[in-house]
Amino acid sequence: MQPNIGIEEKTRQDVAKGLSRLLADTYTLYLKTHGFHWNVTGPMFNNLHLMFESQYTELWNATDVIAERIRALDAFAPGSYNELGKLTSLKEATGVPNAMDMIAQLLEGNETVIRTARGLVSAAEEAQDEATLDLLTQRLQVHEKTAWMLRSLLRG
Ligand SMILES: [Fe+2]
Repeated sequence: MQPNIGIEEKTRQDVAKGLSRLLADTYTLYLKTHGFHWNVTGPMFNNLHLMFESQYTELWNATDVIAERIRALDAFAPGSYNELGKLTSLKEATGVPNAMDMIAQLLEGNETVIRTARGLVSAAEEAQDEATLDLLTQRLQVHEKTAWMLRSLLRG
């Protein structure tokens, strides 16, 4: 049974594809942030360990919201490392960077997600897909705020 929600099938599939890229970026950033929570060292350990925890918890919750929006558009959400790895624009973390490099990598990751989300805005606008637009606005707000905080740490 086809959804009858006032958005053409091709448009729905296009928006869902964009959301799958956003999901892949969000998931990859989640994993990177959680890994840094485990492995961070140095004098800022406690602050960063806790800051990374609040960031990865928010990202984890967001993956579910994005995936379920994809399902509401009647597309399937990517659900394996293989699929997510192919779709993401983020680079995977290699080795264990020092604390300042972790912050720089998370800043770059957040900015990448911001660009992916913003790249989807015009397609969602054209589709009059307000629900996706609302989701994109919320994701942009969170990532731009996180990016500001990480950037501030780098400008000591
Ligand atoms: Fe923990």
